[in-house]
Amino acid sequence: MEIIKTVDLSKRYGALSAVDSINLTINKGEIFGLLGPNGAGKTTTLMMLSSLLKPTSGTATVNGFDVLKQSEQVRESIGMVFQDPSSDPVLSAYDNLKLHALLYDVPLKSIDAKISQVLSLVDLEKRKHDLVKTFSGGMRRRMEIARGLLHEPRIFFLDEPTLGLDPQTRDHIWQYIKTLAEKIQMTIILTTHYMEEAEKLCDRIAIIDQGKIVALDSPANLIRAIGGDIVQLRGVVNTDAVKKLPFVRDIRESDHSYYLSVENAAQNLQKLLAVAGTIDFVAVHSPDLKDVFLRYTGRAMREEEGDLAGHLRNINRVLERK
Ligand SMILES: Nc1ncnc2c1ncn2[C@@H]1O[C@H](COP(=O)(O)OP(=O)(O)OP(=O)(O)O)[C@@H](O)[C@H]1O
Ligand SMILES: [Mg+2]
Repeated sequence: MEIIKTVDLSKRYGALSAVDSINLTINKGEIFGLLGPNGAGKTTTLMMLSSLLKPTSGTATVNGFDVLKQSEQVRESIGMVFQDPSSDPVLSAYDNLKLHALLYDVPLKSIDAKISQVLSLVDLEKRKHDLVKTFSGGMRRRMEIARGLLHEPRIFFLDEPTLGLDPQTRDHIWQYIKTLAEKIQMTIILTTHYMEEAEKLCDRIAIIDQGKIVALDSPANLIRAIGGDIVQLRGVVNTDAVKKLPFVRDIRESDHSYYLSVENAAQNLQKLLAVAGTIDFVAVHSPDLKDVFLRYTGRAMREEEGDLAGHLRNINRVLERK
């Protein structure tokens, strides 16, 4: 059953189409991933779906409500974890959550029990009365996830929930998200820079580039569509000669390497290397989501890229506060 539908959803800033005519249908209970390079339009899409940003044209319904005409009902239906930290560092976790509960009209009598419940879900019940500024980045993120769940939303938007966190913390948070999806049958729409995690977690993935959806399917189908093997070459590569080989389907350059989509690498590698030029490094692997991403966007999704963007935003925030 569909729970989110967009029709030609678009957002323009002057000449720039940040989101360009997106058509999406997301089903109830799905974990749906939005992947794309920096500036692709992921956050803008989530902001429009959560009714916090008005589309320039097109429409979207969320939980059956129109984001323009029924924004209040849309907001009641959703929980949101923003890309940038949005909790108050000089309040305790409890106070941050209580404030949110009051804003969302959670019945006064049940607030304390609800807060305990969502904080235990992310293992923070014991730190309830500590100020958020004493939390680690991962703890603050978990607290914001708990906050987003407080009013029991049907749909949960998570914008880069694990950006810049260490792998262990990332793992934990993904585990929480997965458990949630299963336990309370929530629909989850998330963005992430971490391909392996998206591959494991998401039922379906939309790859978005320059405001447009360029691919949409389950991770397994996206990977299957690439097919064959991926041969990575580094060195002085004779791309013209390589492209002419009948068993080479596609060639992409990223990060000083060439990535070739090759039919039956085991059988064809010798022939390939015979014409490839002066090669310092060769590796062969089965395609994964990183290769899918590179194929559709022409760029590698580098995790550092996301981290760098995150760091820049943090710096900006600090400067703004001064
Ligand atoms: N308020 C704004 N005014 C002008 N341009 C904007 C505004 N907000 C976003 N943009 C532009 O819209 C495009 C999409 O931005 P968006 O934040 O949605 O990208 P993103 O996919 O979330 O990127 P990231 O991975 O860095 O978070 C970018 O080119 C951005 O510069
Ligand atoms: Mg973003």
